Amino acid sequence: LYGMGRKNSAGMDLTDPDVVGPLIPAMKAAVDDVEWVAAPLIGGKLYRDGAMIPVTNPAHRDHVVGHAVYAGADHVKRAFETARNGFAVWSATPTRDRAACLDRLADLMQDYAIPLMGLCVREAGKTMDDAVAELREAIDFCRYYAMRGRIDFVDHGHVMPGPTGENNVLNLHGRGTFVCISPWNFPLAIFMGQVSAALMAGNAVIAKPAEQTPLIASLAAKLIHMAGVPHDAFTLLPGDGHVGAALVAHPDVAGVAFTGSTEVARIINRTLAAKDGPIVPLIAETGGQNAMIVDSSALPEQVVDDAMISAFGSAGQRCSALRVLCLQDDVADKIITMLRGAMEQIRIGDPMDIRTDIGPVIDDEARQILVKHRAAIEGFGKIVASAPLPMGAEKQGTFFAPVACEIKSISDLKREVFGPVLHIIRYKASERDAILKAVNDTGYGLTFGIHSRIQSTIHDLADGAHAGNVYVNRTMIGAVVGVQPFGGHGLSGTGPKAGGPYYLPRFATEKVISVNT
Ligand code: SER
Repeated sequence: LYGMGRKNSAGMDLTDPDVVGPLIPAMKAAVDDVEWVAAPLIGGKLYRDGAMIPVTNPAHRDHVVGHAVYAGADHVKRAFETARNGFAVWSATPTRDRAACLDRLADLMQDYAIPLMGLCVREAGKTMDDAVAELREAIDFCRYYAMRGRIDFVDHGHVMPGPTGENNVLNLHGRGTFVCISPWNFPLAIFMGQVSAALMAGNAVIAKPAEQTPLIASLAAKLIHMAGVPHDAFTLLPGDGHVGAALVAHPDVAGVAFTGSTEVARIINRTLAAKDGPIVPLIAETGGQNAMIVDSSALPEQVVDDAMISAFGSAGQRCSALRVLCLQDDVADKIITMLRGAMEQIRIGDPMDIRTDIGPVIDDEARQILVKHRAAIEGFGKIVASAPLPMGAEKQGTFFAPVACEIKSISDLKREVFGPVLHIIRYKASERDAILKAVNDTGYGLTFGIHSRIQSTIHDLADGAHAGNVYVNRTMIGAVVGVQPFGGHGLSGTGPKAGGPYYLPRFATEKVISVNT
């Protein structure tokens, strides 16, 4: 039990052939036999007029999974008008009813597990394991925020201690219309995490999913309304960055939740700051230059396992992913040799195949950036290991073989490289603190890994790391809702942590009523 009777969802056991056998055909049927269209959904009405933009499967360039109709200026205008009405209704809905909607939404996602997971695989190139984890996280966010909402948004407020003759009560309220802009790398989990928190806090929501993954968002939107969230309180506007920019610039925005790049978070921040009217909060989760420091007391087998999962799991397309592995020189050769062997065993392929370890990266643009980076490495380092890419894979889809390279200094990396590229740095024991400083000096502060069996080393590194999530002697990805609240600071975001106890209040305003009795 993880608090207040809440349990995280169980997921599926993909090692059980009785589970996997029927699952894959069911997922294929649920996705491939449907004409998916993501269109602006405002006040419960779908606006399907407009250019149909194909959404393709990253694993098969020729496979069109569905189509998206992007929102235009009229849709944005109408969305805010509708949300104003939605906010009036939804913010007056008692906390227990809003929380019950989120619990129902979690149940509905469980009922729709097959198409939701199928879309994760087809539209986002997620492996089966990742699709299971994605669904679990989305469900867990809804149940967790429902549970926290019942604590934070008590209907009669929090009584504050004070002098006799006076009653002081603190209440939390929704802010108004929250704009939620979510990424393609967790097209269901982060989408649902932002939206469920904003709704739980009593806001009306306008959600703009990533342009690469509008279809799963459109199915999620249907479930949000089926769960009982009023039509006017939840709007979906598919589109590219222009739609996001128009939403953020609108005078009625009461708050923005954004997950994506640091650069875009800055643009949003500037847009919000430049507007007249109320000061509008931004909740941003952005990138990382995440490092793992390994000393000579670490267990090499465990280091290799954990580094492989952390760097290459989800094709390295997690903001938490390991980017820089810092190896103490005494153990570096041994670990690199083991890593090379392990990387040769990686199976790259169609993510709908249960044997696949790593699927494609999201699109050609992402792949091109990785290809360029791999070529640039020759200028400041050397490639020491890579995974085998099956014949014809690059032609078929946006596949990129994981690669490990040695570099001299973390400062050679000017920005986050979002994909399966692991940079390795050797350090001498006497340089450990300088390495930590170099990691901190990147300005990011998301995840940080330590592999050591020396308590004082663990303590000093964990204490000194500027990171939101520190992982010791384990992988450094896959934060669990309510267990490892997730998020960073500095260039990595504004906090608060998703799936943690301080998340919901940031979506709310606070009001204290003091009565002289
Ligand atoms: N929450 C994810 C993780 O912990 C990252 O985006 O891996």
